[in-house]
Amino acid sequence: MGVEVELTRGDILEWKGDGIIISCWEGEDGKGVLSREDGGIQLDRKLGGMISSTILEEGFGGKIGSAKVISTLGHPKKIILIGAGKREKFKTDTVRCIGAKAKEVANEIKLKDIALLFPQGNIKGFSARERLAALVEGLMLGGYSFTRYKKEQDKETLKKVYIFSSGREALEREIVLASIETAKAVLYARDLVNTPAIDMTPEVLAKEAEAIAEKSHLWCKILTEEEIKKEGMNLILAVSKGSKNPPRLIHLKYRPKKTKKRIVLVGKGVTFDTGGYNLKSTQNIEHMKSDMAGAAAVIAAMGSLSVTRPDVEVSGFIPAVENAIGGSAIKPGDVIRSRSGKTIEISNTDAEGRLILADAIDYAIQKERPDILIDIATLTGGVLYALGELYTAALGNSERLITRLIRAGLEAGEPIWQLPLEEEYLDGFKEGIADLNNIGKTKAQTIGGALFLSEFVKGGVQWAHLDIAAAAWANEDRLYRKKGATGAGTALFIKFLLGF
Ligand code: BES
Ligand code: MN
Ligand code: ZN
Repeated sequence: MGVEVELTRGDILEWKGDGIIISCWEGEDGKGVLSREDGGIQLDRKLGGMISSTILEEGFGGKIGSAKVISTLGHPKKIILIGAGKREKFKTDTVRCIGAKAKEVANEIKLKDIALLFPQGNIKGFSARERLAALVEGLMLGGYSFTRYKKEQDKETLKKVYIFSSGREALEREIVLASIETAKAVLYARDLVNTPAIDMTPEVLAKEAEAIAEKSHLWCKILTEEEIKKEGMNLILAVSKGSKNPPRLIHLKYRPKKTKKRIVLVGKGVTFDTGGYNLKSTQNIEHMKSDMAGAAAVIAAMGSLSVTRPDVEVSGFIPAVENAIGGSAIKPGDVIRSRSGKTIEISNTDAEGRLILADAIDYAIQKERPDILIDIATLTGGVLYALGELYTAALGNSERLITRLIRAGLEAGEPIWQLPLEEEYLDGFKEGIADLNNIGKTKAQTIGGALFLSEFVKGGVQWAHLDIAAAAWANEDRLYRKKGATGAGTALFIKFLLGF
């Protein structure tokens, strides 16, 4: 995680490093437009119009994701123009994209350090505070690759980024510190999810949680198979039965100095999802090591709390299992008594996430009596069809809570869209030989999954369910979100918790 970000004061025009980053709005006529806010116009003037003439002669449109390098033969050696897109389309996330692109290009042309001038004030209503956080996160997240299994490690040349700023120093330092920690957490979550299932069993995941707890001064308790049995969490045991790798229930806790709320996060930790006897097809089984992405988000976000220090108490619960097949695996039609006492007909062994979450939610509410409970899970393939590749679906019993999550998602660069918790669809879950079956009848799988979970939420807790089955895994490279695990949910949780 090579790059170091440093806030600095003074005149960027006097800076004598490798490269200066200048952003460029997308112009009406296909020509990029320099701005005064980040010093582009001033630097251009100092260099005798070198930047503006390059834009005109060689063409640079300023489209988001585009970049152009200009060699000055002086100081700084290079100017990197980064497209910022249309000014009227500007949002916080634009800055995250600019940061990621700047890092990528700086490494491509082998620079050691770069500098940029951070614009003060609001830009199109987006505060300096929020933009600074996004910039640092973009710089840290850009160009991520998972190299654990490669002999050839990435050789990133860029070691340092200087952010010239004239804002309130103490406040800005705090933002930068929190953003570095947020980005590190996202990168850590990506590594956890990208690690193949053979090396990321429930036991390994629990060890990771313990290590994080140790490092970040969290309270931690790991329940073994025996203890899960004693607690009556038979759904967790049932899903785990077909696997040689025993289940774990991870419980982490962060206690702040002052507590405004008690919050519980529950993350789905299926370390591999074969589908069980409702076996997945070749195409669908491909990325199922990522079925613990919810767990990764909870562990990684909680690992940052000793630095970001929100004023809420946070407990994380992770049911960790492998959904495998074999002589002792559950079979479609089996009936299991959940911890809550409701009996469940497992009509489909591939709808396993809701089963382990049901027991974990019941346990978490009894143990912690939270004000708010949020579960996060790669729960349904259907969310991809409902909202596409980028969105997390949110459902729940509290509009206020969902509004808070949507707001945190905007800040984190993780778009969230609400789906309706339509109670009429619950009827389909009540058919069959047990109190509930686990697939229901509605074609809206994502809503169905949430409805099933809602049956285990009690005690007046404000609850939201986040389905990250689409957002947790990218099949296309994007600026700060490369192919593979995205770390979805991690930054979202950190920003959400800081909102109290
Ligand atoms: N882990 C899957 C959901 C999933 C699908 C995650 C694609 C990531 C990418 C989940 O356990 C599952 O199999 N869900 C079923 C639900 C159905 C049986 C109601 C699904 O999506 O088909
Ligand atoms: Mn499944
Ligand atoms: Zn699953």
